[in-house]
Amino acid sequence: MDNNREHISRVLISAEDIREKIQETGAMISEMYAGKPLLIVCVLTGSFIFTADLCRALSIPCEIDFMSVKSYSGDRSTGKVGIVLDLKKDISSYHVIIVEDIVDTGLTMKCVSSMLRERNPLSLSVVTLLDKPECRKTDFTPDVSLFRIPNVFVVGYGMDCDEQFRELPYVAEYRP
Ligand code: XMP
Ligand code: MG
Repeated sequence: MDNNREHISRVLISAEDIREKIQETGAMISEMYAGKPLLIVCVLTGSFIFTADLCRALSIPCEIDFMSVKSYSGDRSTGKVGIVLDLKKDISSYHVIIVEDIVDTGLTMKCVSSMLRERNPLSLSVVTLLDKPECRKTDFTPDVSLFRIPNVFVVGYGMDCDEQFRELPYVAEYRP
């Protein structure tokens, strides 16, 4: 796998559009969770940039924890979800927002949200940067989705193809 820009066929969502939408979402979350203990759960690795930008768009305090789950290898769904790195915190005294890069089949978020719900948080919701509703294989619906995209494989803004292209400041369609 190489990091050649020939694999970037078009920019789907610009850095500016991402910035704007994140400011709106940050304001909305700040209003909804004002005065409540808020824990932002970053699902590594794909959502590390989104989480970093989203938490800085909040005007209320929050805590941040990280988890890592494995559901994909390369660009194909395996349909399996396992915890690779778990949260350090007991989430039972927090309102939890899971921050995800992209909901595709919905398998990952359906599984992660039900695992975290079993730990009895005060509330639980899922905010995803991207939603590919055409690819859904479960009944999972994110609470907040910043952009809907068609059924294309995307990279950039934290998302990868075999660990490449995460550093791009925009979301782009990947061309094999
Ligand atoms: P599911 O199918 O479980 O997938 O909803 C969620 C996870 O799959 C990865 N994924 C992608 N990663 N470009 C990526 O870089 C994509 O187009 C893409 N589609 C799915 C992603 O890691 C997400 O957490
Ligand atoms: Mg990924």
